[in-house]
Amino acid sequence: MSRSVPSIHGQWSSRWAFILAATGSAVGLGNIWKFPYIAGENGGGAFVLVYLLCIACIGLPIMMAEVMLGRRGRQNPINSLETIAKDEQASPLWKYLGWSGIAAGFIILSYYSVIAGQAMAYIFRAFSGVFEGVTADGAENIYATLKQDPERLLAWHTLFMMITMTVVARGVQHGLEKTVRFLMPTLFLILILLVGYAASTGEYFNQAVSFLFKPDFSQLTSEGVLIAMGHAFFTLSLGMGAIMAYGSYLPKETSILQVSITIAIADTLVALLAGLAIFPLVFANDMQPSSGPGLIFETLPIAFGHIAGGEFFGGLFFTLLVFAAWTSAISLIEPAVAWLVENRNVSRRRACVYIGSSAWFVGLLTVFSFNIGSEWTLFGKTAFDLFDYLTANIMLPLGGLFIAIFAGWFMKQDSSTEELAITRPIFYHGWRILIRYVTPTAVVIIFLKGIGLLG
Ligand code: PFF
Repeated sequence: MSRSVPSIHGQWSSRWAFILAATGSAVGLGNIWKFPYIAGENGGGAFVLVYLLCIACIGLPIMMAEVMLGRRGRQNPINSLETIAKDEQASPLWKYLGWSGIAAGFIILSYYSVIAGQAMAYIFRAFSGVFEGVTADGAENIYATLKQDPERLLAWHTLFMMITMTVVARGVQHGLEKTVRFLMPTLFLILILLVGYAASTGEYFNQAVSFLFKPDFSQLTSEGVLIAMGHAFFTLSLGMGAIMAYGSYLPKETSILQVSITIAIADTLVALLAGLAIFPLVFANDMQPSSGPGLIFETLPIAFGHIAGGEFFGGLFFTLLVFAAWTSAISLIEPAVAWLVENRNVSRRRACVYIGSSAWFVGLLTVFSFNIGSEWTLFGKTAFDLFDYLTANIMLPLGGLFIAIFAGWFMKQDSSTEELAITRPIFYHGWRILIRYVTPTAVVIIFLKGIGLLG
């Protein structure tokens, strides 16, 4: 049965507010920091193609499923899944899918805040002219100095976590919605400006376009395919209940198909634009596309150091990157906060403090993995690498897989028809085929191959 009462946390003031908030969740460090460096590490074109396919065939149907489940349950992901499972006469154990999502969000938030903190540090470096005329070596040095100083990283991590808690504490309309309305469009404009600068590098721009869009399948490994799929989940904020929580604040009459397509397109555009802004600089300065998580921190300063008004645009860019990360971090913490408020009767404010400070504490491991703890490894990975791998390549795809199975096989067709309310039957049936057969099969195969369990 569909619930007509809104969530106790309130709801988005309009369809656009939801689109902006969910796009705010989707567009973040994943698009601008992570996508370029993992595309670089996995050989470019072929990886990008697999990533785009994953967005269309796996990400989009799962996003629709998450929004649908959220709006139908009207509570935090755990309670929503429990309620819907009951309505559909499925096992109450489905609520544990909500739990695993909340755990994934918590771990992601812990390291996300550290990287966002690094972007914050860069705001000040850019505005104060540190990048002026900087060379590739100089830019690498600036980044290394920041990374190797645990105190500084810790201070920025703390600040970022605090601003995240502050917004979430203010609630859906006053906190979340207000913040994203202005930020997202501005970020988009600055990215276009940066692509314009990168295009002025002529042949290097062409080289970047071929790197990103000319697939060379000999460069792609099974692990690369798993990383591409994991990133499709990460970048669209899927598989952990964030979009489900946002869906629970969605007004009844909004078209889930339309909003999901809009969000997926906006998110993909931002990632591709980021790639087009960054790779020409990598090639023009003899840097390596595969240089890892420091890529944007080492390449973009070079661009800002050489364009007119670079101090201003550089400062603005990192400001917006922090905002993009902020609007994503909010959605990482929201499901857990909503759960505490609904189930433990704590105020929103208190819930934010509990969750935020625990994630902050776990984040210390990531802070140290860049410096004093760079030798502390498990399975050959530092804490940061391990958290990233575990969440993006294991927890989110598995979470997404079970969401697809639940929405496709355990929810009755009448219920999903009613909640999705897609006017054209062909689109509904297309979604149902994807979510029942295509998505689960693809996720299982890619997952097993990627972790080496399938030939
Ligand atoms: N989508 C965000 C990004 O691309 O940076 C990260 C993220 C946010 C992942 C929220 C998962 C999530 F629930």
